[in-house]
Amino acid sequence: MTPSETFAELLRGPEPFLALAPMQDVTDLAFWRVVAPHGGADVYWTEYFRVHGDSRLERWILDSILQNPTGRPVVAQLIGNDVAALVRTAIELQRHPIAAIDLNLGCPAPVVYRKCAGGGLLRELNRIDAILGALREAVTVPFTVKTRLGFASFAEFDNLLALFARHDIDLLTVHGRTVAQMYRPGVRYDLIAQAVRSLRCPVLANGNVYSAEQALSVLAETGARGLMIGRGAIRNPWLFRQIRQRQMGHAVTLPSGRDVLAYIGQLWDSQVTPEASESAQVQRLKKFMNFIGEGVPPAEQFLHEIRRVSTRHDFFRVCEEYLDHESPITLEPLETAQPQGLPG
Ligand SMILES: Cc1cc2nc3c(=O)[nH]c(=O)nc-3n(C[C@H](O)[C@H](O)[C@H](O)COP(=O)(O)O)c2cc1C
Repeated sequence: MTPSETFAELLRGPEPFLALAPMQDVTDLAFWRVVAPHGGADVYWTEYFRVHGDSRLERWILDSILQNPTGRPVVAQLIGNDVAALVRTAIELQRHPIAAIDLNLGCPAPVVYRKCAGGGLLRELNRIDAILGALREAVTVPFTVKTRLGFASFAEFDNLLALFARHDIDLLTVHGRTVAQMYRPGVRYDLIAQAVRSLRCPVLANGNVYSAEQALSVLAETGARGLMIGRGAIRNPWLFRQIRQRQMGHAVTLPSGRDVLAYIGQLWDSQVTPEASESAQVQRLKKFMNFIGEGVPPAEQFLHEIRRVSTRHDFFRVCEEYLDHESPITLEPLETAQPQGLPG
């Protein structure tokens, strides 16, 4: 089966499926190599390809498609608002082994939305209309959209849903927040449920899924065909397996502190390059530790310390201090941990 056939089968259901979310500067080939063997997702989304008049496919993102180490379908995501360039890029990507083309309508980074791309497009329904029409015509593999609930207000979601219903998209992923909300609390699973009820295409629920228990409750509340998980899977790469265990009524296997330590060691080996300075290597790993640290007790203490290290020696000393033990660890976000610097 081709990747798009495997993906189309997942879309038909009826079983819920699990996707690893696209995360810029995180979900690259190296990261997929580390997370997939932990009992990974059913489908993987690439970081977004930036599309404009003279854009070319970013080589490292294309490499993640060509060298896909997951054994699962990969969906290629695009961000941009130039219809001709989006069509050209979609046609080019379809020469490669992709499962689907996905359009990003959610990125809240000001540098993106001010150019009226990503989440910025949610203020311009006529442009979305033109883009969806043109891409639907150009894309012969499944064509999917990832959106937030609106730009500034939840009230915008009704009109967005009407727009998505007019185009024959194959899947809608809904991150249950507005663009203005960024990553603040208050994911509206009830509005994701509304999307499930009102659209013919399957819907993936996205936003703050962090444990097997809560994953099942989001599936039940929304009626979604599946879940897309981002930060929860950086923190806990065992999460997809744990959700499957819970779905089958089995006990959930929790990693020990040492398992988490080994995962951090694998991330280190996969991410650092010999030519980078030691402090650059530590900085690179801190990107991941900002998420992992939210799940390492006691609340705030580990994060506080790991954010202050600048050498490899201190990095692993702090990790070992908190994680060199055999006790099980849920990796659920601890109450006081604050998210930092989130794009997407
Ligand atoms: C570091 C980071 C990078 C992201 N990059 C992208 C991206 O390239 N494309 C996209 O559609 N969403 C991006 N997102 C948003 C995630 O895909 C997801 O919608 C969001 O994090 C909510 O899901 P979660 O609570 O499971 O993390 C990014 C999120 C993070 C944290």
